[in-house]
Amino acid sequence: MTQVRKLVSVADMSRAWWEQLYMQCCDIIARPETYADTCRGKLFASMFYEPSTRTNFSFQAAAQRLGAGVFGFSDPLGTSVSKGETLADTIRMTASYSDTIVIRSPQEGAATAAALYSEVPVINAGDGGHFHPTQTLTDLATIAIERGSIENLKIGICGDLKHGRTVHSLVDAMGMFPGISFYLISPKELSLPGYILKQIKLHGQKHVESERLEACISELDILYMTRVQRERFHDAAEYRRLKDVYILTKKMLSGAKSDLLIMHPLPRYGEITTDVDDDPRAVYFQQARYGMFIRMSLLLEFMHLPRQLPPPVTFDLTTLQCNNPACVTQSDVYLPKLVSQLGADRCGYCDKKFPLLSF
Ligand code: NCD
Repeated sequence: MTQVRKLVSVADMSRAWWEQLYMQCCDIIARPETYADTCRGKLFASMFYEPSTRTNFSFQAAAQRLGAGVFGFSDPLGTSVSKGETLADTIRMTASYSDTIVIRSPQEGAATAAALYSEVPVINAGDGGHFHPTQTLTDLATIAIERGSIENLKIGICGDLKHGRTVHSLVDAMGMFPGISFYLISPKELSLPGYILKQIKLHGQKHVESERLEACISELDILYMTRVQRERFHDAAEYRRLKDVYILTKKMLSGAKSDLLIMHPLPRYGEITTDVDDDPRAVYFQQARYGMFIRMSLLLEFMHLPRQLPPPVTFDLTTLQCNNPACVTQSDVYLPKLVSQLGADRCGYCDKKFPLLSF
C-alpha cells in the first residue's frame, strides 16, 4: 500500500491510498475471521481529551477485532495532563509504549502537534472544530458501499458547517472524486469557514449556499445532516437561537430521490426526527458500523509500520503568531510555529489566518 505514516488531515490521503484502504475494508467485512490475529502482539493507544462514543468505541473494537491490545483514557483528568504535562511529553511517553496513537482534543491542531513528537503513527480523531479525517473515511466507505461509487454526486450538507469538523474533512476529501457538487445549507452565522470554501474552489467543484433545506432536498443524492455544535459556542444565547434551525422529518422526504442517502456522523440532537429512522434511505446507523471496519483497515496499515521519529521541522517555520484561542499553539507555546499548506498567511496547526501585521 502507498505509504502514509499519519492521518491528521485529508492532506495525508490520496485517491490511490483510499482505494487500497477501501478494498481491504471490503475484504474485512466479507471475511472478518481471517483478520482476527493480524495485529496480535501490537498495542493501540487511545487518547481522548474530549467526549466520544462512536469514534472511541469503534477504534477500540477495531483494534481488538484485529487481535491488538488497547490502553488509554477517555478523560485526561486521570493522567499527568492534570499535573500540567505538555502534549509533547505525553505523546513521547505514549508512543514509546504503543504502535499507533489515536488522539481527540478540543484544541485545533493538536494531532498535527502530536505527530511532531511521535515515533508511531498518529491518527486525528477530531481536533476541536477543525478536522475529523477518520469520520470522513467512515463517510466515504458508507457512500461507496451503499451507492457503489463516490463520483458524480450532489451532496447537501446541512446544519453547523462552521464548527462541524466532520464537514470540513468531508468537503476536503471530496476533492479526490470527480463530478461532485455541494449544496451548503446553513444559516449565515454557521456557514462554511473560508479555508474550506477555498478547498472547494481549488478542486474546481460547484457549490450553492442556501439557508433552506426544503428548497434543494429534491435535487440531492446525499443529505449529510449535522448537529449544531453547542460546545464550540462562546455565547449560550446564540446557541439556543440556532440549535433547532434544521429538523429533518419524514414528511420533508416525500419529494426527495428514492435512492437518496441520509447520513449523519451522530450523535444527533433533534435534527433528525426518529420517524426518519425507518426510512430505507436513512443510513446513519449502518454508517457508524462501517466506521469500525474502515478503522480496522486503517489500524492494520499503521500498526505494522516501523518506528520512526519524524524529522525536525526546518522548512516552513514562521515568526507569525496565531491568535485563534482554540489553536493548540495558545497553550503549548513551545511548538514550532508552522505555516499552513493552504498558504503562508495561515497557521500550520489550525489553518486560521494569522493576524495582519501592521508596520
Ligand atoms: C462527530 C464529532 O465528534 O465531531 N461525532 C463523531 O465523531 N461521530 C459529530 C458531532 O459530535 O456532532
